[in-house]
Amino acid sequence: MAVHINADVNDPIGPVPPRLFGSFVEHMGRSVYTGIYEPGHPAADERGFRRDVLDLVRELGPTVVRYPGGNFVSGYRWEDGVGPAAGRPVRLDPAWHSVETNQFGLHEFADWAAEAGVEPMYAVNLGTRGIQEAMDALEYCNHPGGTALSEQRRANGADSPFGFRLWCLGNEMDGPWQIGHKTADEYGRLAAETARVMRMIDSTVELVVAGSSSQDMPTFGSWERTVLRHTAALVDHISLHAYYQEFDGDADSYLASGAALESYIRTTAGIIDETLAELGLDKKIGISVDEWNTWDLRRWNEVDSAKLGAEGWHTRPRIIEDTYTVTDAVVVGSLLNCLLRNVDRVTMANQAQLVNVIAPIRSEPGGPAWRQTTFHPFQLVAASARGSSLKLTVDGDRVSTARHGEVDIVDAAVTVEESGNCAVFLTNRATTSATEVRLWIRGAGLDVENAWTVTTPDGLTRHATNTAESQPVQPIRLSGVTAAPHHGGTIITGTLPPLSW
Ligand code: AHR
Repeated sequence: MAVHINADVNDPIGPVPPRLFGSFVEHMGRSVYTGIYEPGHPAADERGFRRDVLDLVRELGPTVVRYPGGNFVSGYRWEDGVGPAAGRPVRLDPAWHSVETNQFGLHEFADWAAEAGVEPMYAVNLGTRGIQEAMDALEYCNHPGGTALSEQRRANGADSPFGFRLWCLGNEMDGPWQIGHKTADEYGRLAAETARVMRMIDSTVELVVAGSSSQDMPTFGSWERTVLRHTAALVDHISLHAYYQEFDGDADSYLASGAALESYIRTTAGIIDETLAELGLDKKIGISVDEWNTWDLRRWNEVDSAKLGAEGWHTRPRIIEDTYTVTDAVVVGSLLNCLLRNVDRVTMANQAQLVNVIAPIRSEPGGPAWRQTTFHPFQLVAASARGSSLKLTVDGDRVSTARHGEVDIVDAAVTVEESGNCAVFLTNRATTSATEVRLWIRGAGLDVENAWTVTTPDGLTRHATNTAESQPVQPIRLSGVTAAPHHGGTIITGTLPPLSW
């Protein structure tokens, strides 16, 4: 297998937004409790934050973390999570059939985010609640003082406002599973009026209106049009959520998931443009891919949700703790490439989620924390994709897939910094063959500083995983990558192992 890729450092798609490397912490399963927060754990600090997990979060490098949900937020009362911890109410969380102790809330999240070095992205409940509660949450978080809510925050220990800029107007309101699910008109009106008053309280907020929860939703398209007709003048971003999985051992289709995400993004972008034109609005609305990942939904549907029902109500149930494989890591790498190729429209993205729940980081109660396979592509891309993402052409072998049509055998993204440093991200979708790559980057004289790959470790299969006991899936040096001058640019050549990022 072979491909030729062309890029030009003077032909960018656009700057890589730092928020492209976001993540997500939801009150769900063991994401918060025994994930990021576990008082009494040997590695916990005096606030109960697990330092071993914090170290891995800093290494992973997310820039922004969405909180507190997810489906959870649509039944949540934010006030339950403030004030002395001993006095906080214990409540049912119907979204995940769990018991919520509220020991971790707004102040803990703000403190944890500061400790992790991430920007907070806070979602308000537009399922069971509405305008007043969103106003109250914003005043509590961002107003300096002198009002009942801002003084309550100060009395609770935060003298300075949290200053949250990014706010989600509810979550997945198009989904019939959502608490307080709404029609597009119902949600659009509520989101518009919530946005209007939030801007009156704090003109610096950036607002994300909820788009579709999947490209396969029967309402995809009409939902965005209707919601934007109500809200376009008042919001900065519209979300889309995208999860992918392997069906019946069809690795080729699974590895082509980036093609599905690409068409989802481009279709949403078209609807944004069409609606802005229809409304005569001269502004930009970004796409916030604020939940994306691989997720074996069959396990949720067939095992975890049945287990939740059968076992009654518990705190921090073990749910959707997917153990990721080498194949999943390669898919995550190609989804990141897709995000990089769409930086003209995607303003931020949050891998869902951060710890334990479909996450790159796993932790055991009282035990260790470790890196899943998917940790590595995220970490390396977040650390090295800087500057601008470049337009590319890819010519060469292709693969025909049952679900996503024909795609390039190699999926690529290239970024260039102002200094001229380039980063090249490639996935080889060929499951059994190596692929030779010849990449011509025009306008740059380059050497190879380093080359890494994540692929199947010797003696294992594409289903290899990392566990608490052993983590065989790690980035390894890719040898044989060379650079040579070529017509005012550089030709990079190398051979990608089968099924590799
Ligand atoms: O990330 C897990 C869940 O997936 C979120 O709570 C929800 O928004 C989505 O359906």
